[in-house]
Amino acid sequence: MRAIVATGVGGPDVLRGAEVPAPEPGLGEVLVRVHAAGVNPVDCKTRAGRGTSALFGDGPRVLGWDVAGTVERLGPGVTRFGVGDRVFGLPRFPHPARAYAEYVTAPPRQLVRTPASIDDVRAAALPMAGLTAWQALYDTAGLRAGQRVLIHGAGGGVGHLAVQLARLRAAEVVATASAGKHDALRELGADQLIDYREADFERVVGGVDVVLDTVGGDYPRRSLTVLNPGGILISLASRSDLPDGAGLAGTGVRCTWMLVEPDHHALAGLAALVDEGRLVVRIERTAPLAQASAVHAELEKGGNFGKTVLIP
Ligand SMILES: NC(=O)c1ccc[n+]([C@@H]2O[C@H](COP(=O)([O-])OP(=O)(O)OC[C@H]3O[C@@H](n4cnc5c(N)ncnc54)[C@H](OP(=O)(O)O)[C@@H]3O)[C@@H](O)[C@H]2O)c1
Repeated sequence: MRAIVATGVGGPDVLRGAEVPAPEPGLGEVLVRVHAAGVNPVDCKTRAGRGTSALFGDGPRVLGWDVAGTVERLGPGVTRFGVGDRVFGLPRFPHPARAYAEYVTAPPRQLVRTPASIDDVRAAALPMAGLTAWQALYDTAGLRAGQRVLIHGAGGGVGHLAVQLARLRAAEVVATASAGKHDALRELGADQLIDYREADFERVVGGVDVVLDTVGGDYPRRSLTVLNPGGILISLASRSDLPDGAGLAGTGVRCTWMLVEPDHHALAGLAALVDEGRLVVRIERTAPLAQASAVHAELEKGGNFGKTVLIP
């Protein structure tokens, strides 16, 4: 089959098209013909030797986790799907799924059926960003109606979905994003927007119950100052950016890094929201799989508003 292989560790130019053996579905696995593969920052980090790079063993290094397609074959013991079912998911993360390819194998319980109203591009755009936002706000923070949530990087893949999920819980949503994205983010449900290029967020917002940080750097440390006692900071970008917790004793404030997990219950919840028209997945661009290298280069320039999806 055709796949994109990282021929080394480095910049986007290490990504090359290649013929590799198609995977075989093992015990309790399905073989999926990939119709669309979502691209995420962790793909770029892993390509560059960071991210989940250490989890790739021998053999062709094929990146990618977000996948949508149809079930092509069933391994022994699979009862959850039939051949021809449309499915999507985030299989195996953080271990390699090798989704930049014509076929992947996956554990069936890490996939869900794609509702008829959702095309493969949108389905492939949803799993990693959507599950991250869901697991951070709903599972980790236990976000409740009336709470105030601050979302950093609201103009990104995770951020624009997090804004909507927070709003669906009837939370008050404050968000940081570049000014050009403010109108669209207001439409998605943000109550207050801060242009991070013009203002330090900690000077304009306070009384926050939940901070979701997708930016990293000094954002987690600076965000601690805006939290209410008992509040929670969830950091996504890099574990090393998490403040050490010194000075938090007695405040009830928690801060944690979170790693997204494949989870078919949450994914079905996200799919239902998209199906009902209550959650919008923005697509920034689609490109043929063969253009993965150019797509990575584009993504690393920054400024995207929504997801990028590769089509084998
Ligand atoms: N731990 C996990 O499980 C997990 C899961 C998913 C993602 N992540 C990580 O979370 C981060 C974001 O992922 P993503 O998919 O949302 O990336 P993305 O789609 O590339 O979005 C990042 C966004 O951040 C915005 N931004 C950049 N600098 C900013 C700043 N100083 N303040 C506010 N916004 C800023 C940019 O928009 P502007 O145009 O507004 O600058 C950009 O659109 C990545 O580091 C990714 O690896 C972690």
